[in-house]
Amino acid sequence: MNQRTILVTAALPYANGPIHLGHLVEYIQTDIWVRFQKMRGHRCVFMWADDTHGTAIMIRARIEGRSEEDVIAEANAEHQRDFAGFQIQYDNYGSTHSDENRQLCGEIWQAIREKGLVKEKDVQQLFDVEQGTFLADRFVRGTCPSCKTPDQPGDNCSKCGTTYSPAELIDPISTLSGTQPETRSAKHLFIELEQLHDFLDEWTQTGDHLQPEVANYLKGHFLGDPNHDDGSKPLRDWDISRPAPYFGFEIPDSPGNYWYVWFDAPIGYIASTQQWCEKNGESIDDWWRNDATEIHHFIGKDITYFHTLFWPGMLKSAGYSLPTKVHIHGFLTVNGEKMAKSKGTAFKAETYLKHLPPSALRYYYASKLGSRLDDIDLNFEEFINKVNADLVGKVVNLASRSAKFVQDVGLSVAYPDDGGLFQQAAVAGDEIADAYENCDYNKAMRLILELADRANPYVENAAPWNLKKDPTKARELQDVCTVALNLFRQLVVYLSPVLPDLAQKTGELLNDPIIGWDQSKTPLIGTPVDKFKHMMKRIEEKDVKAMETESKSEADAVLTEQQDVAPTSQYNDSGQPMIDEPMTDECTIDDFMKVDLRVARIVQAEHVEEARKLLKLTLSLGGDQQKQVFAGIKAAYEPEKLVGRLVVMVANLKPRQMKFGLSEGMVCASGPGGEEVFLLSPDEGALPGQRVH
Ligand code: MSP
Ligand code: ZN
Repeated sequence: MNQRTILVTAALPYANGPIHLGHLVEYIQTDIWVRFQKMRGHRCVFMWADDTHGTAIMIRARIEGRSEEDVIAEANAEHQRDFAGFQIQYDNYGSTHSDENRQLCGEIWQAIREKGLVKEKDVQQLFDVEQGTFLADRFVRGTCPSCKTPDQPGDNCSKCGTTYSPAELIDPISTLSGTQPETRSAKHLFIELEQLHDFLDEWTQTGDHLQPEVANYLKGHFLGDPNHDDGSKPLRDWDISRPAPYFGFEIPDSPGNYWYVWFDAPIGYIASTQQWCEKNGESIDDWWRNDATEIHHFIGKDITYFHTLFWPGMLKSAGYSLPTKVHIHGFLTVNGEKMAKSKGTAFKAETYLKHLPPSALRYYYASKLGSRLDDIDLNFEEFINKVNADLVGKVVNLASRSAKFVQDVGLSVAYPDDGGLFQQAAVAGDEIADAYENCDYNKAMRLILELADRANPYVENAAPWNLKKDPTKARELQDVCTVALNLFRQLVVYLSPVLPDLAQKTGELLNDPIIGWDQSKTPLIGTPVDKFKHMMKRIEEKDVKAMETESKSEADAVLTEQQDVAPTSQYNDSGQPMIDEPMTDECTIDDFMKVDLRVARIVQAEHVEEARKLLKLTLSLGGDQQKQVFAGIKAAYEPEKLVGRLVVMVANLKPRQMKFGLSEGMVCASGPGGEEVFLLSPDEGALPGQRVH
């Protein structure tokens, strides 16, 4: 067999948060593929890192009162702990905030500049004056410019789906400070992707680099059809810089500007490889500038654009190898719904591991993952059934019902007649391998389980537990168990990319470590068998429930914490009113008491001819005490609706003769005027004539 050289990456998790079961769809998928390639005897390395830059980390560090370096170091350790917990193995785990990455970003930037792809443009962006920072889209909320639904995110409306820039929102509010941001202009650097249009069209549409539906999507949405003048769409310039303050790398030839996180993040793939090369005496060019090396990226569908247009464009411009394949998967839903932190369904890896075994999730995901981009659903009932019925009931069962009978004598010295079962299963290995190669794991699992379905009746019929009772059948018992254990081992070889733990235990049981795919081709004979130790536990519903409960209480705890520390961001109250009308000079209680505020009932309200803004109000202070007031509230209130309600009035204001009559006081209201006037009303129970202190 030809030995392939394969470099694999998975998307770099943001250092801003913990690993959750959604991430693990991808990371388990990648790990299975890497283990499979290694087992097949290929030279395969998995290069990975944390994605550390951007506004979110900067803000988090500020809130927590520590350095960004501190935040990302902690995340890095936690992420690697979780990956170890799920038996995800990589060859190097770096960080995008590394010297290697800074260096490579500089070199790639230089090359892109030299190709004439960079241009400067002024960009209007919202700026939070209180926090002193430009605002990324997700830190802005406001009213949708299209359907006018309030409190919508900065990039698109959750009600009508319109996409917009945060500056287009009506009444935008910074979620960092609750204040209204200003629009400020800043110089940004752009990569003119359109110059690479022909190259990207060719790369995405030919050579099997992408799943067909991805290639079609890119063609339809971004590239258009270059053979038809009208069909070809220009690619938008890519804004790759952010002005200070920003946590990232400052652009060497553009002081005060930083590379946008999505510029340096994928370069992190190369930087991690570089770090590994330095440790292992390898040359980076063998991995990233060598046509003989395959490069495979695993990513989720949400980051398709970055990996299929920007990234190949960058690599091409800087003279690096292009990806052999970008493998894109769908999203995890939980019981048919989008994962939601607030509902506690964004299960953290850490929380899962407190209650459930990693193998169960690895197998469940494998059984759901296909080569297409469909979302995959985590349904706990199905999860429990699948793991228990397939793995415990059909696979491990083969060993638990036979191993104990041969632990003293070992396996037979010649492989007995099994009616062709082992041979058939050995032949099936090629199809299973193809399924793994194509990331069609659910097909691989199905094929393997079909083999288990043939092995189990053999053991049922041969009934070693009955043979055991008859001392004259000892040879037959040994033969039956030799077959059962070999059929079991064969399944475990096929499953070992998914279930490394089971493979390890099987190797120990049969005194022959499982390391290569070809071990499925020849049966083991004449070797000792260890005492059978338990290999896999049934999943219990109570453990799943316990995990769900814990996750829910974590979610609730986070909510309360947020309410405690940041009431402004919870209510999103804008600081604008205080800016529009700053606080006046201090006054004493005596000053205040000079103003006689009273509760009053509006007993009459009418329009005033010729007055554009005024309504004439008759206010009762109880008994027969009445005052007439002209109030500038016409644009905000219809007179009929005011009659009967209570207001607060300045009762001792010096009467003023107006064109329309005498005004004997003022009603209290807030707001800038016009339609935005808000009358004050006392709570229920207040009586006309009561003084307000
Ligand atoms: N930091 C970027 C990737 C940079 S790669 C140069 C990022 N990070 S992420 O933490 O948000 O996501 C990491 C990967 O996990 C992405 O490929 C993403 O698609 C995947 N998933 C995140 N949530 C997911 C689900 N709910 N379901 C499946 N995959 C999900 O994006
Ligand atoms: Zn809308």
